[in-house]
Amino acid sequence: MSTFTIDTATSRATPTPVPGKRMTVPSLRGRKKGGRTDQPIVMLTAYTMRMAQLLDPHCEMLLVGDSLGQVIYGLPSTIPVTMEMMCAHGAAVVRGSWHALVAVDMPFGSYEGSVEQAFASASRIMKETGCAAVKLEGGEAMAPTIQYLTHRGIPVIGHVGLTPQAVNILGGYGARGKSEAEAKKIVGDAKAVADAGAFCIVVEGVMEAIATDVTKAVAVPIIGIGASAECDGQVLVTEDMLGLFERTPRFVKRYADLASEIGEAAAKYADEVRARSFPTDEQTYRPKV
Ligand code: KIV
Repeated sequence: MSTFTIDTATSRATPTPVPGKRMTVPSLRGRKKGGRTDQPIVMLTAYTMRMAQLLDPHCEMLLVGDSLGQVIYGLPSTIPVTMEMMCAHGAAVVRGSWHALVAVDMPFGSYEGSVEQAFASASRIMKETGCAAVKLEGGEAMAPTIQYLTHRGIPVIGHVGLTPQAVNILGGYGARGKSEAEAKKIVGDAKAVADAGAFCIVVEGVMEAIATDVTKAVAVPIIGIGASAECDGQVLVTEDMLGLFERTPRFVKRYADLASEIGEAAAKYADEVRARSFPTDEQTYRPKV
């Protein structure tokens, strides 16, 4: 099903032909049958319509992550991210995709207060964006919230291990699970989140052995980020893997070097404008003779 409704001579949001059916929660959940998924699940973040269009054919899931706080808005962490930001970017990504399941992060402060607050926020995100699922951070403590939402028609993706919204408690973004007690807690968190009804779980920034244990212990797909190849799928922040930032975490592989390409293009444009060699006749409107 295409989500595009804009088709004017001036819009860049050109509709794409309907290529087929969108991924669903049961189809993704069903990818894990007993052991680890046969085919790993591919997930990337997207915050804009155009990026969604480009990534959609290659992914089973697109995540409108609250990492947009840092990546798009230049905020110091995900903590200041608002519902308005998540809804606006979530709707853009749904409009730019037709195949991948779109999940939207619940921002910090929008769900921790009570199950009723979580339902109000999650239902608003789903109504305003058209996404199929929400993601929220936290383990055992969030299990009652996940159960409340899933029992009321809201598919939830869990997020355990390194949970960036808790940066002030954790004291930084380092890998988690270095002590035995912490490793045990992360596995327990993943089990609690799965038992509460999450249809898949992001496990971020953990030692490989924990990823192995969680993937074995939990019946729903485990999507890793900085969590080794042992998981049922992988997610990365797209701008990191495209090389848009000088500094990327150790677990990121750069598949492109867009920062250099953009810098070179901008420098060339600036040179040509200053030399009056852009625009040329080709880019200039004149009456037809
Ligand atoms: O906010 C985000 O982009 C995320 C991913 C890194 C998993 O939560």
